Amino acid sequence: MSFIEFKNVWRSYGDHVVLEGLNLKVEEGEFCTLVGASGCGKSTFLRMLLGQETPTKGEILLDGQKLRAEPDPSRGVVFQKYSVFPHLTVLENVVIGMEFLASPFWGRLWGAKKKEARLRATQILTRVGLDHHLHQYPSALSGGMQQRLAIAQALIAQPRILLLDEPFGALDPGIRKDMHALMLELCKETKLTVFMVTHDLSEGFHLGTRLMVFDKVRVDPHAPKAYGAHITYDIKLNQDRLQQQAQVATLPTHVLNQTN
Ligand SMILES: Nc1ncnc2c1ncn2[C@@H]1O[C@H](COP(=O)(O)OP(=O)(O)O)[C@@H](O)[C@H]1O
Ligand SMILES: [Mg+2]
Repeated sequence: MSFIEFKNVWRSYGDHVVLEGLNLKVEEGEFCTLVGASGCGKSTFLRMLLGQETPTKGEILLDGQKLRAEPDPSRGVVFQKYSVFPHLTVLENVVIGMEFLASPFWGRLWGAKKKEARLRATQILTRVGLDHHLHQYPSALSGGMQQRLAIAQALIAQPRILLLDEPFGALDPGIRKDMHALMLELCKETKLTVFMVTHDLSEGFHLGTRLMVFDKVRVDPHAPKAYGAHITYDIKLNQDRLQQQAQVATLPTHVLNQTN
């Protein structure tokens, strides 16, 4: 049994078919990078994994069980746009994640539990390199630091699956490199299974253990919404540079051109 399995998954909005016939097995610990043209359904794919949306047809299994149609702590998410709370400090931004987990109604922890939450949050913030900024507000942080905070927020609930939607797309190349190093370290330390959408093919190859290309193969010019995208390439990546270049060479030019 695979950790995650997509069985003939379709997703439409009204008569607009966005994704069609997805069949996929992913094992725990894999780092899947997803590329494809804008609008082809990559974020929709992540939202289905998050449980924010359900397939129109087919099913998604997690540990052999149908995925629950609502977000839960086993899945964490980081978006490109900063998702942190501007009115809370760095530390509070992470603690609040634990508070909502422990007490969805009140969203508060008190006494020893609060102390423990602050300790855990501090440990995670130290891990992502924000230990000197615990009491600052997000507006005082750079873009890269805000994304580190968003990653800490996503990790505090100890998810088994991390969903990243172009998380580093807005960052400068140097900062992006630092974030790549952080992600690779975090993945080495845990059994985290990652799905990351990126526009940067080289980022996809660098971080992923597996690269998936989303593409629309069936096109009817008279009914552009009649067909959806599916995964046209699912490439197992390895660290050998020459082999990797050979793998890139197998991709069609329109896939190479739509990413940069
Ligand atoms: N809630 C929604 N209602 C209607 N259409 C949607 C909705 N969410 C996404 N879409 C459509 O689905 C398509 C895929 O969107 P998206 O998953 O965001 O693509 P990507 O992330 O690959 O750029 C787009 O055409 C978008 O307009
Ligand atoms: Mg998107």
